[in-house]
Amino acid sequence: MNALELAEHFTAEFRTRPQVFSAPGRVNLIGEHTDYNDGFVLPAAIGFYTRVAVAGRTDDTLAIRSTRFPESYEFDLTALPQTRLGKWCDYVLGVASILQRAGWPLVGATLLVDGEVPIGAGLSSSAAIEVATALALSNLAGKKLALPELAKLCQKAENEFVGARVGIMDQFISCLAKEGHALLLDCRSLDFELVPMPEDVKLVICNTMVKHELSGGEYNRRRAECEEGVQILAGFYADVRALRDVSGDQLRAHSEDLPPLIYKRCLHVVEEDSRVIDAVRYFRSGDVPSVGRLMRESHRSLRDLYEVSCPELDVMVEAAEGLPGYIGGRMTGGGFGGCTVNLVEAVHAQTFAQAILERYRMKTRILPETYICSPADGARMEMG
Ligand code: GLA
Repeated sequence: MNALELAEHFTAEFRTRPQVFSAPGRVNLIGEHTDYNDGFVLPAAIGFYTRVAVAGRTDDTLAIRSTRFPESYEFDLTALPQTRLGKWCDYVLGVASILQRAGWPLVGATLLVDGEVPIGAGLSSSAAIEVATALALSNLAGKKLALPELAKLCQKAENEFVGARVGIMDQFISCLAKEGHALLLDCRSLDFELVPMPEDVKLVICNTMVKHELSGGEYNRRRAECEEGVQILAGFYADVRALRDVSGDQLRAHSEDLPPLIYKRCLHVVEEDSRVIDAVRYFRSGDVPSVGRLMRESHRSLRDLYEVSCPELDVMVEAAEGLPGYIGGRMTGGGFGGCTVNLVEAVHAQTFAQAILERYRMKTRILPETYICSPADGARMEMG
């Protein structure tokens, strides 16, 4: 549904004209599991948006509806829940609750949500709904917030309300993405640079259609393993606060001082940070094949060192090899299912998408989805 259609839907239902805000899902080109280690990431927004239509009301109620789910919810703004309910409205409610806790004078509102970002595919449908909601509620409260601050509040909603200890990448790119560009983000300082993507290259995203249940618990476990590594390494290097501060040489010098599993996790993160910086350099110099090589290395590292891939993701990555126009690819996002991202020459993108679909289906008996994307714009008000 585009903004106009959503607004019409809203007006028909609630007899008042809404404002409409939108925020995109994302794909990460390289830099996986580095954000919560204060490192670097290189995501881009994709052209799937979540839209929130909103209008104020005269009472203290927050009413939440969706065009996709039948359930509707109403909450009293003076007594908002402080933790998740286990329903789809959690992301909206979480943002409202965190905004309020941060001192925002929220006013009664009716929200209608329409999401086109595939859910559970690792393309950050949750960040998209959070960011669109935050824009909607903050505008209605009559206060504008700088986008990086808005991203941080949305991350806080996910960390503290929903209970997922995610990093800042997804919310940040959903806020600040720019058409035609990937975004290099320093997850410590939140400094960022836009990196132009070659126009003759498409991002072909391949959805394995699986999401293994262990993802949430394993994600938190990886974070804890990284923290353990930092604790040990800080004993040798006083200024190490996060894996971001550790060089490859420093890590290798202490390979015997870390439990083998912790060493593997740290090695992935430290090398992945360097791959991000190298990938940006290669993009800037027009050496896209070298970016492709780094993406393949990233996948192997996520599979063998960080151990967050799964058989379906590996099949999808292998299925790309040898197809015309394929430059490089890897799993993207947290892992244990979801999507791969592939750089493909634009002229071959359609045939690539079709061929990889067949190959994956032959091997797994699962019919995947493929999305041919170019980097899209970040969050905005679509109708004022
Ligand atoms: C999920 C999280 C992100 C990031 C990735 C892994 O998508 O939401 O913050 O940690 O996993 O790179």
